[in-house]
Amino acid sequence: MKVSSEFETDILEIIKNRRSLRAYSTAPIEPEKIKSLFEAARWAPSSVNEQPWTYIYATKDQPDLWNKIFSSLNDGNKSWAKDAPLLLVSLVRKNHLQNERLNNSAKYDLGAANAFLSLQATHFGLNVHQMGGFNQLTLRENLNIPDAYEVGVIMAIGYPGSVDQLPQPLQERELTPRKRFVQNEFVMNHSF
Ligand SMILES: Cc1cc2nc3c(=O)[nH]c(=O)nc-3n(C[C@H](O)[C@H](O)[C@H](O)COP(=O)(O)O)c2cc1C
Repeated sequence: MKVSSEFETDILEIIKNRRSLRAYSTAPIEPEKIKSLFEAARWAPSSVNEQPWTYIYATKDQPDLWNKIFSSLNDGNKSWAKDAPLLLVSLVRKNHLQNERLNNSAKYDLGAANAFLSLQATHFGLNVHQMGGFNQLTLRENLNIPDAYEVGVIMAIGYPGSVDQLPQPLQERELTPRKRFVQNEFVMNHSF
């Protein structure tokens, strides 16, 4: 499949600027900005307006809670997420509130909320890096997550730091242009 680093057409600056960087400044994030991140998630669309998302966040000045999240990350993620002033866990309620039936759209809706949150963060000049690389059991135990909830991703959030603070192999990755499949590979104007 063909990939490219070029934008094929103009898009919103905020989408262009969002990037999963790994170098974080340890500067704290203003509490009102943290609140705005969750407000952006709040206004995401969801199936039957179920709003199945839940977030647990911890700032670095809450070391106990922050470490409960951090300690569940795999070693690769720990090597750079250690500087992030804000960690958050995104979760979903698996069942509908009204009738307790399985909500097949729950994780889809969480993805939309996380995307809204990420773009709001980009607007503030914050970097968001989503991580699926964590130990589910450790995280569930550390945070007492009930069975009714499924974990989506953990996110490391903070103002960008300097590339030099990263381990050598990650410095290169940080500076490499991103690649995406070209539109011809995933957009069709005809049936399969
Ligand atoms: C569900 C999900 C899980 C991810 N897990 C990790 C991870 O564990 N570690 C990591 O470094 N990046 C992780 N990423 C970040 C992706 O690697 C990144 O989004 C992708 O390479 C595209 O780069 P960009 O976000 O800078 O455009 C994850 C992203 C998503 C959406």
